[in-house]
Amino acid sequence: MKIGRLTISDRASAGVYEDRSGPEIERALREFLGADVEFEQALVPDETELISAALRKLADAQACDLVVTTGGTGVAARDVTPEATRAVLEKELPGFGEIMRVRSFARTPTAVLSRAAAGTRGRTLILNLPGKPSAVRECLEILAPAIREGLAHLRGDDPHEKKKTAP
Ligand code: MTE
Repeated sequence: MKIGRLTISDRASAGVYEDRSGPEIERALREFLGADVEFEQALVPDETELISAALRKLADAQACDLVVTTGGTGVAARDVTPEATRAVLEKELPGFGEIMRVRSFARTPTAVLSRAAAGTRGRTLILNLPGKPSAVRECLEILAPAIREGLAHLRGDDPHEKKKTAP
C-alpha cells in the first residue's frame, strides 16, 4: 500500500521549526494499519494552490492509495486546508471529520475548532487531520477501522458485495 503524507505549515516549510506531525502520521499508520506500507512525503506552506497541487500529485502522479494531511484545518486566517482539499475531491466523506471531532471532544474540547474534510479522488482516499502530533495519533486511532474498510472498497474488494454475490 502506498501512503502520501502532506504537512501543511508556513513555519515548518520555512524551517522555523521541525515537522513533527508528518513523521507521526507515518509512525501511527504503520502501527494501526500494520500492513506493508510505503510512504511519499511532502511539506507545503498554507497556500490553497500549493496544497491542492500537492494533493493532486500524491493522488494522481504518485498513485497513493491513501493521502493524509496534517495542519491548517482551524479558523486562523491562514487555515485553508479544507478548502484546498475539497477543490480536489470527487466524493466527500463528511463522516471522517464528524467522528474525529465528536470522539476527540471528550478529551480535547478544542477539537470542535478543526474543520477537517475527507473524501475520494479516483481510487485515493484523502483525509485532513489537525496539526498537533498528539492529535494526529488520536485521530488516526479513531479512524483506522474506517480507513481500512474505505481502502478495501476503493480497491474493489468490498466484503459486503462478495457476500451478496456468493451462491
Ligand atoms: N483534535 C485532537 N484529537 N486533539 C487536539 O489536540 N486540537 C484542536 C483541533 N483538533 C486537537 C484536535 C485545535 S487546538 C485546533 S485549533 C484544531 O484542531 C485545528 O488545528 P490545525 O489548525 O492545526 O489543523
